[in-house]
Amino acid sequence: MERLDKILVSQGIGSRREVQKRIKSGEVTVNGEIIRKPEVKADADNDEIAVLGKVLNYSKHIYIMMNKPAGVVSASNDNHDKTVIDILPDEYKRKGLFPAGRLDKDTEGLLIITDDGDFAHKMLSPKKHVDKQYIAQLDGEITEETIKKFEEGIVFADGTKCLPASLEIYNNDKKAGLVTICEGKFHQVKKMFISCGLNVVHLERISIGNLYLDGNLHRGCCKLLSNSDKMLIFVGKLH
Ligand code: URA
Repeated sequence: MERLDKILVSQGIGSRREVQKRIKSGEVTVNGEIIRKPEVKADADNDEIAVLGKVLNYSKHIYIMMNKPAGVVSASNDNHDKTVIDILPDEYKRKGLFPAGRLDKDTEGLLIITDDGDFAHKMLSPKKHVDKQYIAQLDGEITEETIKKFEEGIVFADGTKCLPASLEIYNNDKKAGLVTICEGKFHQVKKMFISCGLNVVHLERISIGNLYLDGNLHRGCCKLLSNSDKMLIFVGKLH
């Protein structure tokens, strides 16, 4: 059993304050009965909860899109640094949340946070080859040779082989690259550029599969993913 306002927030109906207002104004029913107290507890799996007559299709898990800022680590807890879980708004906080995939502390952009282990596994599995796109700002210029090396598959100094990746010059600026990779080795994009004699000075992830970072989402902010957002991660793969 969980508070009605918390259940509604978890289903993307609105912020804690918005859903409390809607409950108090009589828009929400539980098993057909209008409930005006946000603190009333309901069983989301078994009770029929409706907002303005529309029955909620309850999803047990939560899927959050974060525009990760620099300076926080992609972990559930950390002894030294603030984590992406620490900066979640209170209304999204619940047990079992973790970032599905990691971005370095100084990397910004699209990060998915969930409590659904199966979903994360599917998204991260190397076999699924989900494309991830990054915009990298560099300390030097991209050449035809850099692009070719990415296409052929970079081999790191320790012998680790990367799958072929795509690199395009971004916005006509040779010191900026749009990189598409379909795996997630540690510091992969930075190391790929280092292999070509370039250093990444800023890195931002802009997409996972066909799910793009919402341009209206400010750094450090979050929103819930809809079912169709979630599906975009797995459609239209290049590989
Ligand atoms: N590649 C990197 O080097 N860093 C990231 O955070 C993500 C991909």
